[in-house]
Parts: sequence; structure tokens; C-alpha cells
Amino acid sequence: MDPSSNIDWDSLGFDYYPTRSLYRMDTNTSGEWQDGGLVPFGDISISPAAGVLNYGQGAFEGMKAFRSAKDRITLFRPDMNANRMLQSAKRLVMPKVPTSKFIEAVTMTVKDNADFVPPYGKGSLYIRPLLWGTGPVLGVRPAPSYTFAVFVTPVGPYFKGGVKPLKLKMTRNFHRAAPHGTGNAKAIGNYAASLYPLKLAKETGFDEVLYLHAAQDDLLEEVGSANVFVLKGGILKTPKLGGSILPGVTRDSVIHIAREILHLDVRETDVSIDDLITADEAFCTGTAVVVTPIGEVTVEDDAYSIAGQGEGEVTGKLRGLLTAIQKEERDDSFGWITALD
Ligand code: COI
Repeated sequence: MDPSSNIDWDSLGFDYYPTRSLYRMDTNTSGEWQDGGLVPFGDISISPAAGVLNYGQGAFEGMKAFRSAKDRITLFRPDMNANRMLQSAKRLVMPKVPTSKFIEAVTMTVKDNADFVPPYGKGSLYIRPLLWGTGPVLGVRPAPSYTFAVFVTPVGPYFKGGVKPLKLKMTRNFHRAAPHGTGNAKAIGNYAASLYPLKLAKETGFDEVLYLHAAQDDLLEEVGSANVFVLKGGILKTPKLGGSILPGVTRDSVIHIAREILHLDVRETDVSIDDLITADEAFCTGTAVVVTPIGEVTVEDDAYSIAGQGEGEVTGKLRGLLTAIQKEERDDSFGWITALD
């Protein structure tokens, strides 16, 4: 039986589901890419001294493929993810995956797993490109060889219960990234460091952690899995990319949609705690979370509700416009969609 025929498309969450195949490409010990290709989906064996296991030399990407209203499979801005992986590779001293190779690998993997792309309107195929140090190291140094892989898995909403306003825990006890650190790279270690603050937040009834700038702790940085926006008096603000913030593809797309379709005044700037707790609306953006409203934020022990703890009108419009472009329900005036034939 076809492995995808068991999937209940109506109850997809954001969970790992094995699929048919993954793409794999390795370097030789001089860091030169060798021929890559699809291999059966399955575990990967690795040296116990691999750079990724010992020193966290790894980066990833998050993308989605959609079954669109035109009954074809689409990718959303794959060049942006390819480019961000180039930046992550540079920061972590890994060989660059050329953009054309990155997009070819993603395309091959999605096409070979096309039956795992949920039906139109029922979720998406999450695409996870990975780059890691495979070769053995003992002293702290870059690994001698690397692996680039792409796997895919069908997903629904990131947060349980779908798009519902989030309860965020703002923390002064932990930072996500430091100035001049690796915050603007999609380094695996950034996410390892976020697990403990996230555990503490979840244990006390929160959905996610809101991090502050490590050097100026009255300024917002980002949420563990997403960028953050606040709207007040018609001005939409998001923390500027100062090196410690992840340059989100959805963040960039929302900025374009807000400016060019909704004609909002959008500012990439400093965003203070006060901006958030007095906001008319606030929301998070990310490939996984899409555009998710923030309903409440707790600062120290004080809880502040935002947009009456519901979803603001602009937040809903931005998500609607973004997902309508992704699913080809409206014109792609930005040229963001790549259709796979
Ligand atoms: C994504 O939004 O795709 C990400 O990579 C964030 C991840 C923490 C789920």
C-alpha cells in the first residue's frame, strides 16, 4: 500500500512523519561536493566524532510546498532559503551549497514525495534542508567533510488547535542570541539553547518564549520559533536585523505585503516592551507558524492582553494575503511562486 494513503489529512499537526525518499549529497575530505541524489527515506549513520555531534556544526532551513488552487504543487521563495543557507554555511565554516543545487535538491525531493503533499486547503509539505559536518574531528576545528540533505514531511498547524492567539512568556533570564553571535544564522545550536526556556514556559502554561535583546533588555528580539511584529496607530514595527535576529522569509514577505498591498507604514526598527504591551495588534511570523496572533504576554509577573486576546484585523488580513499567494488563490504580483510541473 502507498505509505501516504494512511494519512488523515484533517488531523495533521506539526509532527514528523516518514516519507518515501530524501536527497543526500556529500563532500569529499577537501570539502568539494560530489554527485548527490535521492535515497530511500531512513536513518543516517555517522561517525561519533562528527563535527555536528561534537561541536554543533550544522544549519537547517524550513520551507513549505503547497497543493494550490490551480491543482499544482508550488514552492514559496526557495531562493531566499537557499541564500540564507549560504549565510549560515559561511558563519559555521561549512561549504556552500550552490543555489541552483539547493533548489534542484528541494524540487527533486518534493516531486518524488508528491503524494505526501496534503490536498489543497489541508496543510502543506514541510521541507527541511540540512547541512552538517559529517567528518570526524577531535580538536575544535571545522569537520573535514559535509553532508547536505533534504527531507520532507506533511504538516498542519504548528501550534495545537490551529491559529489561536498565543500566550507568550517574556524572559529576562535567557537570551536567544548575543550581539555578534549566531542569531542571524539558522544554526542548530540556537534552537538547542532555546529548549530549556521553552520547557519552563510550557510548564507554566505558555505557548512560546519571547526573547529580549541581549545587550538592551527593554527591546524585543524574537520568539523562539518566529519573528515578531507589533501594530499601533497604523504603524507596523518589527525588530531590525541587527545580526542577532533571524532574517525570516515570512518576515520579509509580510513586510512586502503590508507595504505594497495594505499600504501600511512598516518600520524595521527598535521595538520596545512598551510598544508590545500597548499594541493594537501583535503577531509572530515564520514558515512553520505562518502569521499567528499574540493574545497575551507576561512581563515579569504581569500579564498584558493584546487585541482583546483575539486576532486583530490586520493580522488576519496579512495571513489571508500571504496564504492566498502561497496557494495561488490570488495573483502572485511579487513573483514568489515556483510551480513544479
Ligand atoms: C520554520 O519556521 O520553518 C522554522 O524553521 C522554525 C522552526 C523552529 C520550526
